[in-house]
Amino acid sequence: MGEFAGKVAFITGAAHGQGRAAALALAREGAAILAFDIARPLAYPGYAMGSSSDLESLAAECTASGAACETACGDVRDDAAITAAVERAVSRFGRIDILFNNAGICAYGLTHELTEDAWDAMLDINLKGAWLVARRVIPVMIRQKSGVIINNSSVAGLRGMGRLSHYAASKWGLTGLTKSWALELAPHGIRVVSIHPTGVNTPMNDGLAELEGLTPQQIAERSAGNLLPVPWIEPEDVAQAVLYLASDKARFMTGAGLVLDAGLLTR
Ligand SMILES: NC(=O)c1ccc[n+]([C@@H]2O[C@H](COP(=O)([O-])OP(=O)(O)OC[C@H]3O[C@@H](n4cnc5c(N)ncnc54)[C@H](O)[C@@H]3O)[C@@H](O)[C@H]2O)c1
Repeated sequence: MGEFAGKVAFITGAAHGQGRAAALALAREGAAILAFDIARPLAYPGYAMGSSSDLESLAAECTASGAACETACGDVRDDAAITAAVERAVSRFGRIDILFNNAGICAYGLTHELTEDAWDAMLDINLKGAWLVARRVIPVMIRQKSGVIINNSSVAGLRGMGRLSHYAASKWGLTGLTKSWALELAPHGIRVVSIHPTGVNTPMNDGLAELEGLTPQQIAERSAGNLLPVPWIEPEDVAQAVLYLASDKARFMTGAGLVLDAGLLTR
């Protein structure tokens, strides 16, 4: 019997990268999964998003490990799609115990050269999207008097980052949401935490490298500067953090961030 048997996880940006790794790790521990992803290309930031075939293969892998998985194609900026997916999770599985607010984009640009469209896309997906999803999941958790919300921020939510100001603003915003939601939701038995990874070896990193004309390793090293001698961490490292944060082992952790920075912020 897995540690998360009987639990239900709603994961955004689940088709590939960190969301997929978290979905698989939770499924292996017995959780039922609602995997939500835009599953189509986006003109901005211009690198590959997850696809519907990624979602299908994720569902097959979850099923193979004995866990149920529902998939939903939708944008975290689209309240109707979110509402439908939350209703599907509740009608199929009866509850939502874990929300992993993970969907996000990244793109480079000097502050004075950013367009309003770029600013809006970054903030709308990374920050407003997390709120739009939480807004529909929180009432379910309040009814249950339990739940855990995990916001995937970044080291960029704890420091400044040149050519990534709109990204950093969105990730600092998630830090603020985490702390504020923790205050609101503690009386209902709901915990809210954030994760702050350094560079992670995902399609996002590959896509940014291609756009910048660098190798994936160069792009990770340029923005990271880890103390430990690694260019990046793996999506599975983030998934292990999600397992811990969602579990009772972290039952007294709320309003706080888990830093997975390979020492970067020590500099
Ligand atoms: N890769 C890194 O170096 C790194 C480091 C720290 C934090 N993060 C954060 O971790 C999260 C996951 O990143 P990743 O590296 O797995 O990225 P990724 O690009 O590999 O995967 C992101 C997933 O989110 C989906 N998505 C994007 N926009 C969406 C939208 N509007 N609605 C629904 N789904 C959408 C994509 O289709 C994709 O499947 C992001 O929030 C990112 O900012 C990434």
